[in-house]
Amino acid sequence: MNDRIPAPDAAPRTAPALPDAQTVTAVTHWTDRLFSFRVTRPRSLRFRSGEFVMIGLMGENGKPLLRAYSIASPAWDDELEFYSIKVPNGPLTSRLQHIEPGEQIILRPKPVGTLVLDALLPGKRLWFFATGTGIAPFASLLRDPDTYARYEQVVMMHTCRERADLEYGRQLIESLPEDPLIGAFVADRLRYYPTTTREKSEHMGRITDNLRSGKAFADLGIDGIRPETDRAMVCGSLAFNMEMKEILEGWGLREGANSEPAEYVVEKAFVD
Ligand code: A2P
Repeated sequence: MNDRIPAPDAAPRTAPALPDAQTVTAVTHWTDRLFSFRVTRPRSLRFRSGEFVMIGLMGENGKPLLRAYSIASPAWDDELEFYSIKVPNGPLTSRLQHIEPGEQIILRPKPVGTLVLDALLPGKRLWFFATGTGIAPFASLLRDPDTYARYEQVVMMHTCRERADLEYGRQLIESLPEDPLIGAFVADRLRYYPTTTREKSEHMGRITDNLRSGKAFADLGIDGIRPETDRAMVCGSLAFNMEMKEILEGWGLREGANSEPAEYVVEKAFVD
């Protein structure tokens, strides 16, 4: 018999309802600096893979404490996933890192952002360039069938300090061939090129250095990035984004926007 009446202390604890409240369904701690979590999705929330929303917690002063977070789950998912750094003494993440399933967060259901397929012109190959938690919008786009419908090949380059920092992305990418929706596409069309900068691993060095030196192209067997065929999305620190803009523009790619699609788009990985 499953229909026992729960003892009072086993009853679910219900927090007072917050405006735009969503319930946490899962939390994974990847390292002492990185965690991901899933929350319920408001029925009314429509977004394009790669966009971000404002999420947060109620502050001590009774005002919402919100930050921009890329949605890491694809647009078709029933839940929403986020990937976050734990900023020491960060007003939001020092508290957010302790959330547990069943607890609530605030989510403003107004998605925006430039890392969307609509901001790029059609092409042959799509490059995703990320440092650190900048992989979050690509975790969404990598799981979206539209990505593979629009481009013949997708290359995910991700750089972190240490191997453990790559794990969220690595496990996600390794799970894709088993994904019922996109497994069939990724087999020979998705290339993954992770690198570390402060710990030894198979491929080392910053994305920027590996592109400039040609090492990444040699390792991938791809003969460069060209405006005729290649499109790119960039998400990382401000310094990384600036360097990537310079590199891509040096190769003749132009920055696109929702209103005027072109060859590449950039967005800052917000919480840092
Ligand atoms: P590095 O270890 O050489 O600084 P962080 O953890 O500081 O956000 O950095 C994440 C990754 O991004 C690190 O591997 C770091 O390399 C790299 N990185 C930081 N700044 C840049 C930049 N301007 N261009 C390329 N890679 C960068």
